[in-house]
Amino acid sequence: MVLVDSVTRAGQSMVVCNRQAREVDPAGRTGPPPAPRSTAEAPSDPARPHGTGHVQAGPESPRLAKFHVPEIVFGPGSLAEAAHAAARLGARRPMLVTDDGLLAAGWPQQLLRHLGEGGMDATVWSGVTPNPKDHEITAGHEAYRAAACDVLVAVGGGSVIDAAKGIALLAGNGGVITDFEGVDRMVAPIPPMVMVPATSGTGADVSQFCIVTDTVRNTKITILGRALVPDVSVVDPHLLTTMPDWLNAATGLDALTHGIEAYVSRAHNPLTDHHALQAISLVGGHLERTMDHPLDQESRLHMAQAALEAGLAFTNAILGAAHAMSHQVGGLLDLPHGVINGILLPHVVRFNAEGDPARFVPIAQALGFPGEVGRSCSQALAEDAAEWAACEVRRLADELGVPKGLGEIGVTAEDLPTLSTMTMADACLSTNPREADRADIEALFRQAL
Ligand SMILES: NC(=O)c1ccc[n+]([C@@H]2O[C@H](COP(=O)([O-])OP(=O)(O)OC[C@H]3O[C@@H](n4cnc5c(N)ncnc54)[C@H](O)[C@@H]3O)[C@@H](O)[C@H]2O)c1
Ligand SMILES: [Fe+2]
Repeated sequence: MVLVDSVTRAGQSMVVCNRQAREVDPAGRTGPPPAPRSTAEAPSDPARPHGTGHVQAGPESPRLAKFHVPEIVFGPGSLAEAAHAAARLGARRPMLVTDDGLLAAGWPQQLLRHLGEGGMDATVWSGVTPNPKDHEITAGHEAYRAAACDVLVAVGGGSVIDAAKGIALLAGNGGVITDFEGVDRMVAPIPPMVMVPATSGTGADVSQFCIVTDTVRNTKITILGRALVPDVSVVDPHLLTTMPDWLNAATGLDALTHGIEAYVSRAHNPLTDHHALQAISLVGGHLERTMDHPLDQESRLHMAQAALEAGLAFTNAILGAAHAMSHQVGGLLDLPHGVINGILLPHVVRFNAEGDPARFVPIAQALGFPGEVGRSCSQALAEDAAEWAACEVRRLADELGVPKGLGEIGVTAEDLPTLSTMTMADACLSTNPREADRADIEALFRQAL
């Protein structure tokens, strides 16, 4: 399948050269100019056309691209592979991280049996809640140490996977999780990680992100670093069938937001573009069907692939203003991440398209834009396509029952100044395609209220 092109050995990155940096030696080093350490640290300069009358939907000037991916096992019934992966990574006493919702669905028990059959003595830890809290990571790390665990295996949604990453980070580096906010703050190696996503949305199983709630500041912090890319991601679409409808809707919108923000990100590259557009098209084509026919295997498979490809795109291209803003609302109100994204995304699409609508043309096409678009199209048509894409995202959100505004989920006008100030410090804002100052962000929050 298409993903095979992008998969390299666990922990490695694929480097594609541009015209200025053509040489790649066997160790993966490139000739001048020097490679940035990661796309997150040095987002590429987008250099896009502005108001020129005509816009190009085709490739832009080439640039150095890096692509981090775990080993990926994908397919119905692959859950057992997580135990084989843990064994391959040297696990004898793995910690199986999960939560109460997953235990009620029965998936961790199945994985525990597979781990036991593989001769491993696993410790189950399920002290995570949605939007994982800093003190939960501390407790998980204490349990990891007390049981002398050696590998982390997680089965769950983004919250469980991020908790497992946080525990791994503390196991290698000590300290408290909030010390690691920002890019590449961890210095020591961390234990191997095998992730089994149970929702079709976050892409945390392939990403270099770990998102944790700072309970002192009431915000979600972003921890970013290539060491957080898991060793193995095992994607079994069967697990998606026990998601409640609201979670299916929320996580599907999260995957759509990842695809769109990654595609327009200042750090996008041809490798991430491909996965981003594929993810957008898969969500547009299959999310609604999973709501109407929850046991339909084919659409679950497509949504699992959508979440995975969106993850491959955004972990390498990073995200934008919708996520930077969403993290603040999620930290304040402990609400489902994908629902907040679904409310914010159409507003952010319009804001970014005002700067340059060109990149929204392929996005609109991936979502089924009916207009005729060639390789080059007029500024007016690009604006139409971008507006159509914003409306289509809102239409989908309406179909899924997502509230129209942040006010309906508990945000008040008094919250907006603080939310705006905190958004300015979020790592995801730096790759938003259009420069946004604090006043812009507050105006966006007001529109979305
Ligand atoms: N690290 C990353 O790259 C990244 C990316 C996007 C989002 N996130 C984070 O992920 C979190 C959201 O994760 P999520 O949306 O996957 O949900 P979640 O992990 O917060 O889970 C929500 C609830 O659904 C239950 N659940 C999950 N899967 C289930 C299943 N298959 N069957 C039955 N119940 C199930 C859980 O038990 C939990 O109670 C947020 O904290 C968000 O910030 C992380
Ligand atoms: Fe997200």
